[in-house]
Amino acid sequence: MRYPFILLISFGFLFSFLSCTNNSSQISEPTMEEIAIIKPIGDQIAGNLVKELQSELKAAIKSGGFEEAVNVCNLRAAPITKIISETTNRKVVIKRTSNKYRNPMNAPDKFEKKALAYFEGLSNSGKPLPDYFIQKLGSGNSMVFNYYKPMKTSSNCLICHGDPENIKPDVLNSISKLYPNDKATGYKENDFRGLIRITIGN
Ligand code: HEC
Repeated sequence: MRYPFILLISFGFLFSFLSCTNNSSQISEPTMEEIAIIKPIGDQIAGNLVKELQSELKAAIKSGGFEEAVNVCNLRAAPITKIISETTNRKVVIKRTSNKYRNPMNAPDKFEKKALAYFEGLSNSGKPLPDYFIQKLGSGNSMVFNYYKPMKTSSNCLICHGDPENIKPDVLNSISKLYPNDKATGYKENDFRGLIRITIGN
């Protein structure tokens, strides 16, 4: 009688071990077919977002007013909703993230940390960054894709993300009021700044 009991215990152990590994490794490689569907959606949404941010930034530089620094580099709901609805009718969620984030809401989750580590590894060893990176998460009906687009700093970005000594005092002041734990300064031109993450569902 002792034998089956031990077997039962070991099966139970094996089962919980397997479900545990499943939980911690929900990322899998997307197939070529999945990439062919997801990449163009991600490319189009990310491209339009970058365009939108750059035109807002140009307008702000022209008017010279950076007191409301928060409004310039924010992903605002209205343009995003428009960009998504013109691209796809799938469920889409957009976020930006970075290891050196300004807004704590943009701090990376465990999947984003992996994507950031991949891009930072390449960037630190002076290698060119790929245009995109796709993670497949979950399986079956709950499967979604995380499409990532790397963002680098141009000289315009340094107005608010550069060396604090070179940021105008009024800008620095309004940033530190809004984001007392800001980590997003000290960048130089052409640094890897972070990722746009576009989660694409069914
Ligand atoms: C006028 C000031 C300003 C300029 C110029 C600016 N940013 Fe930002 N940036 C901010 C602020 C403020 C936030 C926090 C926005 C929020 O609350 O989500 C931010 C957030 C970000 C984030 C999200 C991660 C985080 O740190 O919270 C990224 C990525 C980013 N900026 C990249 C850029 C890039 C790339 C450029 C240049 C093309 C740029 N920024 C130019 C002020 C600026």
